[in-house]
Amino acid sequence: MKKGNILIKNASEIVTCSGFKAKVGKEMNELGIIKDGSVVIEDGIIKAIDETDKILKEFDEEEFEIVDASNKTILPGFVDSHTHLVFGGYRAEEYNWRLSGMEYMEIMKRGGGIINSVKGTKEASKDELVKLGRKRLDSMMSFGVTTVEGKSGYGLDYETEIKQLEVMQQLDKDHPLDIVKTFLGAHAVPKEYKGREDEFIDFIIEKVLPEVKKRNLAEFCDIFCEKNVFSVEQSRRLLLKAKEMGMKLKIHADEIVQLGGAELAAELRAISADHLLQASDKGVKDLADKGVVATLLPGTAFSLKEEYARARYMIDNGCAVALATDFNPGSCFTESIPLIIALATLHMNMTTEETITALTINGAAALDRADEIGSIDIGKKGDIVIHEFPSYKFIPYHIGVSTVEKVVKDGIMIYDKCKMFECL
Ligand code: NIG
Ligand code: FE
Repeated sequence: MKKGNILIKNASEIVTCSGFKAKVGKEMNELGIIKDGSVVIEDGIIKAIDETDKILKEFDEEEFEIVDASNKTILPGFVDSHTHLVFGGYRAEEYNWRLSGMEYMEIMKRGGGIINSVKGTKEASKDELVKLGRKRLDSMMSFGVTTVEGKSGYGLDYETEIKQLEVMQQLDKDHPLDIVKTFLGAHAVPKEYKGREDEFIDFIIEKVLPEVKKRNLAEFCDIFCEKNVFSVEQSRRLLLKAKEMGMKLKIHADEIVQLGGAELAAELRAISADHLLQASDKGVKDLADKGVVATLLPGTAFSLKEEYARARYMIDNGCAVALATDFNPGSCFTESIPLIIALATLHMNMTTEETITALTINGAAALDRADEIGSIDIGKKGDIVIHEFPSYKFIPYHIGVSTVEKVVKDGIMIYDKCKMFECL
């Protein structure tokens, strides 16, 4: 991807989210704000951040593309650290069933749910999936996302799992957004393996994982550790193998039933444990002790009409909490960051500051990239978003509406709402 030289000046606030590792507990309230600030990006990398008069004394404006951010707020690009963005087919029908009271796991038991998307993904060509992926990434970009994680898991066989990962590889090359790839081959039990879950795990370990590793198709390995899907024992077996092969770990943990997924994530030193709606007190303590990021997905709880994960309890007990969309065709068909912000602040009792931390530096930490993205710090990628109001406090206040005006990725302007609408 191209790298740019850009100087963004006169911002009424720069919310730096400064830091190179996850923020835990009370630290999540520290946003590192600079009033009347400017940012300089050279060759795609942040070169300087300071008050505007100091920056303009030090740098020659002639040498940069200049963007005036008077009366606006600058934030790091959002990091959406948990999505399932590559899939074929949709499940609008199932959404209606859920509205009339059928439960998510009930639909899955009847052969719908994830297995339905597996069918659609098998049928779709690689080109079709790339096209769909591009469109979805464009939408994420409009919400200020500059890095997104994407999982496989709608294949459950060798060809389709690899196809999904190749699609993400292609998208990462073609699209300005960065994609972090996760192998989720153990996302559901395919029909032919019902009752033989251990054999399916063997298949994943012996046949698919080595190819994923050999071709460097994914950085993370993940599993849906859940009652009637994969047990803690099966999850441990797969994840240990992946770890041995040098992959980093994530777990869909304690989403519907309290199974001990959080404890397992801590035991295996996963980078993140995700969902956690039912995580036990001990599980939360273990995550905090072992420095595993607790990635919460309020859009899913909202869409499934479940209780939200205990964000307040987790933060008050020293966890690093990240927030992500969980964008997927079943449990949460939304890439809307404003929705996540509204749910986190209004329904999970997170402060505005914690919510922003959870979508920036802690999102980066959930992808093990806190040294590279997630904050406006010298040396990090020039991934910056200009929001259309003079303070970050407007971000949750403008409920459910995106405040994003411009997105800069690697120092290049990749999205500018002012080209379509009048900006004040
Ligand atoms: O994170 N929980 C398991 N996996 C996804 C849902 C995938 C689907 O329903 O297609 C999730 O919610
Ligand atoms: Fe998920």
